[in-house]
Amino acid sequence: MRMDKLLSTIGYGSRKEVKQLLKTGAVLADGVVIKDGKTHVDSETQEVTVHGEKIEYREFIYLMMNKPPGVLSATEDLSQPTVIDLLTPEDAVRDPFPVGRLDKDTEGLLVITNDGQLSHQLLSPRKHVAKTYFAIIDGTVTDEDVAAFKKGVTLDDDYLTKPAKLEILTGGDPSEIKVSITEGKFHQVKRMFEAVGKKVTFLKRLTMGDLELDADLEPGEYRDLTDEEVEVLRNSKPADFV
Ligand code: URA
Repeated sequence: MRMDKLLSTIGYGSRKEVKQLLKTGAVLADGVVIKDGKTHVDSETQEVTVHGEKIEYREFIYLMMNKPPGVLSATEDLSQPTVIDLLTPEDAVRDPFPVGRLDKDTEGLLVITNDGQLSHQLLSPRKHVAKTYFAIIDGTVTDEDVAAFKKGVTLDDDYLTKPAKLEILTGGDPSEIKVSITEGKFHQVKRMFEAVGKKVTFLKRLTMGDLELDADLEPGEYRDLTDEEVEVLRNSKPADFV
C-alpha cells in the first residue's frame, strides 16, 4: 500500500497533512526515511515508524458479528440500517463488506472482512463450504423432510438444490431444526421449507465453514476474529453431505 494511504488510513490526517508529516522526515520504513507518499510499503513485513514509534497496521480485517434482526447485510442503503452502520468508525473506514447475505430478519453469524479472496473462497459453490442454521418451523418437520433435503428439493423457480443436511432437534408443531446448506440462493432455507409445505418463523446462522458463532456475542455485537479463527475459516473443509 502507498505510504500516504497507510498513514491517512490509520489516522495521521488528510492526504495534505500526511504530505507535511512525510516532508519532516519523521516517517521511516525499515530505518530509511520516506518522504515520497507514493512509496509502496508492506506494513506486515516492513517496520514503519512515525517519530520513532512503530505503527501496527494489518491490511485485512476479519470480524465476526452476531447479526441482529432488522438490519441489512449490505454495505450501504439509503433508507435502512446496514451491518456496516453497526461498526466503529475505525473498522468502517477499512472498506469491509459482509461475506454473503443474511435476510433482514435473519440473525446470527456474519463474517465481515475486506479480504475479497477469502470471501470468494467461502462463497464459491464449487468449494461446498457449509453454512448451518438453527430454525423454528411452523409445521411438523418429518423424517420424510430429512430424506427430501438429503436429495435436494425443488424450489419455486424449479431449481433443484444441492443436498442439505436436516436434523430435527424438537419434533412437533412448531419444530426446531438445524439445517446445513452449501449454496446461497435467495431466501434459500425459507424456500426449501416452503417446498415441503412449511414455514420458517425464526432463522439464525450458527456456523460458516468450520467457524462457529461466539455464543457470548449479543445480537448486534461483533469482535475481531483471532488469527486461529481466520485460519480455521480459511481451511474450512468441504461439506461431507454433498
Ligand atoms: N436462507 C434464508 O432463507 N435466509 C437467510 O438469511 C439465509 C439462508
